[in-house]
Amino acid sequence: MMQWKAKWIRAAAEPEGCPEFIRKFDLDALPSSAILSITATGVYEVYLNGKRVSNYVLAPGWTSYATRHQYQQYEVSELLQEHNIMCIGMSGGWYHRRAPAWAFDWNDRNEPMNAVIAQLEWETGGLWTDEDWQVRESAVRFSSIYDGETYDARIDDPPCSPVKVIDKGTENLIAQEGEIICEQDVIYPARIFRTHKGECVVDFGQEITGYVQLELTAQRGERVTLSHAEMLDKEGNFYTENYRSAKAKLCYICRDGHQSYKPHFTFFGFRYIRADEFPGTPSLDNFKAIVVCSDLRRTGDLRCGDPEMNRLFENIFWGQRGNYLDIPTDCPQRDERLGWTGDAQVFVKTASYNYDVRKFFHKWLADLAADQAENGAIPHVVPAALHRCGSAAWDDAAVICPWQLYMTYGDREILRRQFHSMVRYIDYICGTTKDAYLWTGGTHYGDWLGLDAPAGSYKGSSRPDFIASAYFAYSTALVAKTAAVLEEDASRFEKLHGKIVEKFRSVFPEYTTQTEHVLALQFGLAEDPAKTADDLAAMIAADGGCLKTGFVGTPYLLHVLSQNGHVRLAYDLLLRREYPSWLFSVTQGATTMWEHWDGYKEDGSFWSADMNSFNHYAYGAVGDWVYEEAAGIHIPENAPGFQRIRFAPQADKRLGWLEASIETVRGPVRSKWVHEGDRVRYELQTPVEAEIEIDGRRRTVGPGAYLLFGQP
Ligand code: BGC
Repeated sequence: MMQWKAKWIRAAAEPEGCPEFIRKFDLDALPSSAILSITATGVYEVYLNGKRVSNYVLAPGWTSYATRHQYQQYEVSELLQEHNIMCIGMSGGWYHRRAPAWAFDWNDRNEPMNAVIAQLEWETGGLWTDEDWQVRESAVRFSSIYDGETYDARIDDPPCSPVKVIDKGTENLIAQEGEIICEQDVIYPARIFRTHKGECVVDFGQEITGYVQLELTAQRGERVTLSHAEMLDKEGNFYTENYRSAKAKLCYICRDGHQSYKPHFTFFGFRYIRADEFPGTPSLDNFKAIVVCSDLRRTGDLRCGDPEMNRLFENIFWGQRGNYLDIPTDCPQRDERLGWTGDAQVFVKTASYNYDVRKFFHKWLADLAADQAENGAIPHVVPAALHRCGSAAWDDAAVICPWQLYMTYGDREILRRQFHSMVRYIDYICGTTKDAYLWTGGTHYGDWLGLDAPAGSYKGSSRPDFIASAYFAYSTALVAKTAAVLEEDASRFEKLHGKIVEKFRSVFPEYTTQTEHVLALQFGLAEDPAKTADDLAAMIAADGGCLKTGFVGTPYLLHVLSQNGHVRLAYDLLLRREYPSWLFSVTQGATTMWEHWDGYKEDGSFWSADMNSFNHYAYGAVGDWVYEEAAGIHIPENAPGFQRIRFAPQADKRLGWLEASIETVRGPVRSKWVHEGDRVRYELQTPVEAEIEIDGRRRTVGPGAYLLFGQP
């Protein structure tokens, strides 16, 4: 347990712009070890003797600050010298943010702005934030997560003024739990050009989350102003309307000479920038884009013989990188960037194959439990920036995410930690429903963005009570399984699950939409799965071979088809290039996943400006179908963490070949198939005992690499 001698401090009189807290100190002898513990009510950067401490960007990250506010610890002895100066710059970050206009229920924080706490300790002494510190204005004149940053490079050594100690405790401070956020990649611009409107635009060729680094030679007082965008409109002009109220602007006021700048306390989601002001003519050499996200280890890979499908696979990975910035966000650009639980839930399986997300989710799920309402409802966004709870498929993140971490990594610890929260969630449904053993009533997001939505609505036509009750059954089943894993009493949840299934079947004997069929199959609610799957296939055919599912149905759609005798149709949907399909956005030049199948339509118009993100990972959940069904890498339910594997690849000639690999906790797993004339070659690699099923034939094998041939 960290012992805090340090006190929270803030400026006695709040300076203009973002403050910088300063402490000078001398050392008689240089310590061999020195630990700096630090955090802020916002985001901070700390410098010792002019050198940046740590590559952590946007520290201390975003948690449910009221109860769980991370601090960081850095070993800094190498930066110390005889005469020292420590500077801590900060801005409001996620802690103090303006409410977006749409968020009528924004969770405002009535606390003094811009406070820091820091404690530096070495073998023989230490120092910490107290009245002896000072504060000054900094060159960062303005910084905001949604609106961007203004930096005045002319400001050099401004005068210091006093700080005051504030009455703010340390009980909620916790050591860093999540992955650190850091710079990952540098992207050099693909082109710079003038639009029809005469705007000077730089195209980085890839939509990213992060920021631009500027490099230029200029005169004091000259200005650079940059706007960010994800798309150009059909005339090729810079398009920013879908950022809604997020201004997302960088403004840099130059000093004399050669200089370089990148933002300190904010980030953007963008592919293009527009130079609104620039001294002279901007060129490619003035800009590079820096990708910023949580420092996750890549574990998965997907590739195949179809270039457009490969682009889709890349878009899935970029979607995750763009939105796993300390918390799983819906999107990185408009005035949201929030931890929407539904989005996190639908994508968690793909995410857990693509990257090692254990630490990332341990932290976020702890926030979810911390922000869980007294009655057990789950906030729709975590950390709970909004006062909103209780929607099926969103709240179920409380159960589905821990269970998936258990399946992918064999992580019992996460089940143990979340179990109480999971049980409270089930109890909440039991207490809130109008009809016992179903979840009826309440306000839900439904099959969000389903294409069968009535005009003017975002909610697909699937019945809200149907979706909520189906998820109730599923989450209850998972909680029963969790109880069994943890050797807790599972019988209560098993019985409850049995009653829900029984009631569900009597109340919902028929399915009216694609998504209703999908949920009935996926959650084991359909009494006759073969018939339900055939009906679903017929419904898709009647819908012109098109999916109509939204956030709720889409992630499971291909799974239920391929698991119930309709592999060919699952591939038809995956390979479809026309709207609506995964590949439509690819044919339109997408470099990330889009929120809407037709965010940018064939005629060059946009879906709408209101809700149209071009970096929304949810539909990237199709990635797990490719790993599990197309490449056939299955984790048997009784062998979590790849203790055993079941390979059941489903080759389709139209792709030519496919290769999927996952660096699992047991070692590398790989499945590849190649169509070779009148046969299919399968290459499989397993670090554990595995069952291989190809063309209906089963073999059990030990760890090793295998070559097999099958029918096309
Ligand atoms: C977000 C979604 C989210 C939804 C809730 C939107 O504004 O961007 O991804 O799940 O609200 O329905």
